[in-house]
Amino acid sequence: MEIFKSVQLMQRHSESLRIGGRHISFVPTMGYLHEGHLNLMREGKRRGDYLIISIFVNPTQFGPNEDLEKYPRDFEGDERRAAAVGVDAIFYPASEEMYPPNYQTYVTVEEVTQNLCGQSRPIHFRGVATVCAKLFHIVKPHVAVFGKKDFQQLVTIQRMVRDLNMDLEIVGLDTTREEDGLAMSSRNTYLGEAERDSALSLSRSLVRAKKLYDAGERSAGKIIHAVQEFIASHRGTRIDYVKICDTETMQDVENIQRESVLALAVWVGSTRLIDNYVFGQTLNIV
Ligand code: PAJ
Repeated sequence: MEIFKSVQLMQRHSESLRIGGRHISFVPTMGYLHEGHLNLMREGKRRGDYLIISIFVNPTQFGPNEDLEKYPRDFEGDERRAAAVGVDAIFYPASEEMYPPNYQTYVTVEEVTQNLCGQSRPIHFRGVATVCAKLFHIVKPHVAVFGKKDFQQLVTIQRMVRDLNMDLEIVGLDTTREEDGLAMSSRNTYLGEAERDSALSLSRSLVRAKKLYDAGERSAGKIIHAVQEFIASHRGTRIDYVKICDTETMQDVENIQRESVLALAVWVGSTRLIDNYVFGQTLNIV
């Protein structure tokens, strides 16, 4: 497995792979890899014949009071985990390599970033879109795999790729969960034992919402109310948002008619967790 820290060397390597006829798949991450990340990589292996991942805790997607400094990092462990699933190369740049002095160019995706996390984290998606655009130009993948766990992020990247005619395919993969249903996240490591219990209210509320929907309920307000009540009954939880949105526009809907997603962001103690469910799909939570 090769490690590249330089933008230029990564670009040269990818260019020569392309000239040699290789099909490059790519999984961008911020590291501290867990089974959810590794499943994206396994999918990447299936969809290409040379798999590159990136590990970069991207400063431009963190707000001034967010967890950039304390975001968990473990490069050696990540290297081992990546090698074990057959990653061919890791792009692992320093911050100054990606954002040298006088950096000033950003990608703004409009409507789909305004709701949900765009409201509680105003500069977040600008940072995500910008770094992904840069990574796509550096890694030159034919296909990139993203998790549906960060649903609005996936929609944003798909929108950017279409709008800017970027020549790659974006694949979305289902959320990987712990056995008890909790969506895997690098941030789960922040949770204490009692918080870990309360964190289960997110995935369990999705099951409740699915049951209501399957029984014929289509009023977004009624489903949202049931979800809010359920989450609020758990100690230490504070709801950031519970919303139901059209998956194309990411705007709120009153009634579920077109494909819609229930999206949650909930503080458990000092950790902010997200989860979501697209109505009509399966949900593997016991
Ligand atoms: P990170 O949080 O490290 O996630 C990297 C990728 O893993 C994203 O596509 C995310 O949706 C996916 N992922 C995380 N947890 C998952 C789970 N439980 N199941 C399935 N997929 C999961 O998302 C980012 O990093 C960054 O914003 C990034 C795209 C790398 C840009 O900086």
